Amino acid sequence: MTTTLLTDVPAAADDLAVWPGSTTRLPDGDLAVAGVALATVADRYGTPAYALDEGEVRERCRAYRTAFPEADILYAAKAFLSRAMARWVREEGLGLDVCSADELELAVRAGFPPDRIVLHGNAKAPRDIDSALRLRVGRIVIDSPSEIARIAAAVGPRGRQKVMVRVVPGVSAGGHDKIRTGTDGQKFGLSLSDGSALRTIARVLAQPELELTGLHCHIGSQITAVKPYLVAVRRMVGLMSRVHHTHGAVLPELDLGGGHGIAYRPGEPSLDLPVLARRLRTELVERCTATGLPVPRMTIEPGRAVVGPAGVALYHVLAVKRTGETVFVAVDGGMSDNPRPALYGVRYAPRLIGRRSIAAMSTATVVGRHCEAGDVLAADVDLPGDVQPGDVLAIPVAGAYQLSMASSYNMVGRPPVVALHEGTARLLVRRETLDDFRSRDIGV
Ligand code: LLP
Repeated sequence: MTTTLLTDVPAAADDLAVWPGSTTRLPDGDLAVAGVALATVADRYGTPAYALDEGEVRERCRAYRTAFPEADILYAAKAFLSRAMARWVREEGLGLDVCSADELELAVRAGFPPDRIVLHGNAKAPRDIDSALRLRVGRIVIDSPSEIARIAAAVGPRGRQKVMVRVVPGVSAGGHDKIRTGTDGQKFGLSLSDGSALRTIARVLAQPELELTGLHCHIGSQITAVKPYLVAVRRMVGLMSRVHHTHGAVLPELDLGGGHGIAYRPGEPSLDLPVLARRLRTELVERCTATGLPVPRMTIEPGRAVVGPAGVALYHVLAVKRTGETVFVAVDGGMSDNPRPALYGVRYAPRLIGRRSIAAMSTATVVGRHCEAGDVLAADVDLPGDVQPGDVLAIPVAGAYQLSMASSYNMVGRPPVVALHEGTARLLVRRETLDDFRSRDIGV
C-alpha cells in the first residue's frame, strides 16, 4: 500500500498520532489501516462497524513483554473479548484477566490455558466460582470476606485453589470518578487503612483449601502518571511485610492491576510503559530490600492500552443540521456502540474518510441516532465544512470499552467487528440483527 502525503489539509486535522501505527493516507483522501482502505470496510460490512488492527494489538502485547520481561502480563478481557482477541494475546505470551463465568468460558473454549487466567469480581455469582474451579483457573482474586468460605466450600477438603486478595491501597488515580478504585468509599477490594485487608488475609491463610499466592490492587483506569503506581507499590509491600511479621507468610506474587492511560486525541498524554516498568522495578526492589522481603513476581493487567488504539469505529453520516450556533453531524451509531462520552465525558477526534475534502475545517458536534439528547459522540470537533449525508466518519482509539459496553438501545444492533491484517479484512463478530432480537423474545 503506498503512502501519499496530503499537503492541502491543515496539519492539526491531519495528525494521525493516535491512529494505529499501520495507518496510511491514500491518494483519494481515504485512510488505510493494515493495508485495508477504511471506506472499503464501511462498504463491505456496513456501518456502524468496528475495525481492529490485529498487528497493532500484537505489537502492543510485544511492547509490554519488552518493557516488563520479568512480569506476568494479563490482558484485561473486559476491554474487549472475542475468540480471535483471546488467540492473539495468547500467541503473544500474555495471560488473561476475566470477571465473569462466560468471559472465562469463552476464552477457555477458544483454547486459552486456564492456568494463565485470573478471575476477578466484587460480586462473584455461584456460577463464576463453579466455572473457575471446574475449568481450573490460575487464580481467583478475593474481593470480599464472604468469598473465603464460599470458595473454600466449593473447592472441598481435598482440593486447593490459588487465590489473591484485592487490597485498596488508598491511592487516588484515574481519568474519571467512575473509574477510580484505589481509595476507600468505592465498592472494590479490602481497605488497607481500616484493617480489613489484613484481617481478610489472615482468614485466607487459615483456610487449608486456599493457597494465598499474593496481593492484588487496581487503583483505577486511564492513569497517565507513574507516581500513583509507585505509591501503591510502597503500600502493598508495606502490607506484605506486615503479613510476614504477623503470620510468617512470604507472599510470592504482587499484582498491580491495569489502568495504563492512552491518548484519545492528538496531543494527549499516555502512560510511558518503559518508564513505568523501570520505576516500578526500582521501587519494588528498594522496598523489598528495606523490609527484608524477597522481591515478589509482579503481575500487571492492562486492557485499554492493549486494544484501545487498535480499534477504529466507522459510521455513515445520516444527517447534518444547524441548530442555533451548533452544527450537528448525526451518524448511524452512537451511545449504543459507544457509551463512553455520555458516561465519562471522554473526548474523541473523528475524521472524515473515504473522500478528499478541500473545504475549510469548521466546528461540529457528532451525535448518534438514539432517542436522547445525551447521545453525543464528539462535541465541538473540527471537521471539513462540507460534511454531508453519505460521508463516512471514522473515530480512532475505539478498541477498548466500546464494543464490550455496547447495548442494543432502540434495537439498533451491536456492530460487527472486522479484523484488519496484512492487507485483508475478515469478520470476527457479525452484526446483531432483528433475528437476534426476535430469537430472545420468546414470550407473548
Ligand atoms: N484489572 C482490573 C481488576 C480492572 O478492574 C481493570 C479495569 C483492569 C485491570 C484494566 O484496566 P485498563 O488497563 O483497561 O484501564 N469502562 C471504563 C474503564 C473501566 C475499567 C474497569 N476495570 C472506560 O471505558 O474507561
